Amino acid sequence: MVKLKLTRPDDWHLHLRQGSLMSSVVEMTARQMGRAVVMPNLSPPIRTVGESLKYRSEIIASLPKQSSFNPLMTLYLTDQTTKQDIIDASQNEHVYAVKLYPAGATTNSDDGVTALSSLYSTIEQMQKEEMPLLIHGEVTHAEVDVFDREKVFIETILDPLLKRFPELKVVLEHITTKEAVDFVTDASQDIAATITAHHLLANRNHMFLGGIKPHYYCLPVLKRRAPHQESLIKAATSGNPRFFLGTDSAPHDRLHKESACGCAGVFSAHAAIELYAEAFDKANKIERLEGFASHYGADFYGLDRNKDTIMLEKKSWQVPDIFEFSGAEVVPFFSGEDLSWRLVS
Ligand code: NCD
Ligand code: ZN
Repeated sequence: MVKLKLTRPDDWHLHLRQGSLMSSVVEMTARQMGRAVVMPNLSPPIRTVGESLKYRSEIIASLPKQSSFNPLMTLYLTDQTTKQDIIDASQNEHVYAVKLYPAGATTNSDDGVTALSSLYSTIEQMQKEEMPLLIHGEVTHAEVDVFDREKVFIETILDPLLKRFPELKVVLEHITTKEAVDFVTDASQDIAATITAHHLLANRNHMFLGGIKPHYYCLPVLKRRAPHQESLIKAATSGNPRFFLGTDSAPHDRLHKESACGCAGVFSAHAAIELYAEAFDKANKIERLEGFASHYGADFYGLDRNKDTIMLEKKSWQVPDIFEFSGAEVVPFFSGEDLSWRLVS
């Protein structure tokens, strides 16, 4: 049996939700990951240190007793976020970053930012405190094609922002395009990107071929195989430490996805590291998985790498069709399909 021992990985972009759904999904992440950067797009969003600490204690309370999983909290940037909010965040040991959602870009982004220009003093404070800005990098103008929104964001928002704040620490989240890969590759050491397992393993054909497949719909939306998916695979498996693991696992009840106006989000926490192992193995780069999954994110955030390890074995298994949680049915990524690596529990 082929086995692979890895430093315990971390998930640098995760949606845990609230209440009973959170209690159902958090353990799936905690059994694989040492830490996760927890997204603040609840309804209402997590805007202050006080709100994020309350949310963190709810997460901790729903973990199995012996778990040492550490949720790293984030604040949701709004038009009202002040310099003082950033000072408070940087003085707190549990808040690690601030998340920018352009208003209307994705799930629960209505309270997001309408104009970055009104937030320059807040962002300047982030630069000073070396507080990472995590970016959902898509423009929202109706006239911009959905498949071009990331590229246009990079050109018209991100590039000018970094010219104004050249030392701002930025993670461009869940990148989906060759343009994003190229931008991060050519940018300073302060700019990194997360890549999801679903953007490595799927492209827009998966969403449309043979009928419309709502469980492949996420934002930013899946792009073409060539050049976009191929660029992401190349970046993730390149050994460049500025690309690292962020699942963007985002559970939604199937009724909200299998609908005339289905919501965006792919659930992948059930098999996160196995899905990445699948992608790296397919690219014949399994030896690069550990850096991407377990080293580079911690290094970028200035944190120690995890001290313990996990073990994967190459043994085919079938992903469940559906998870029946209390109050929600969630269709996971790779539902009913085989994966070739399995976490040894
Ligand atoms: C995320 C969600 O459901 O919260 N959805 C998604 O498609 N990725 C939000 C986000 O990260 O954009
Ligand atoms: Zn997300």
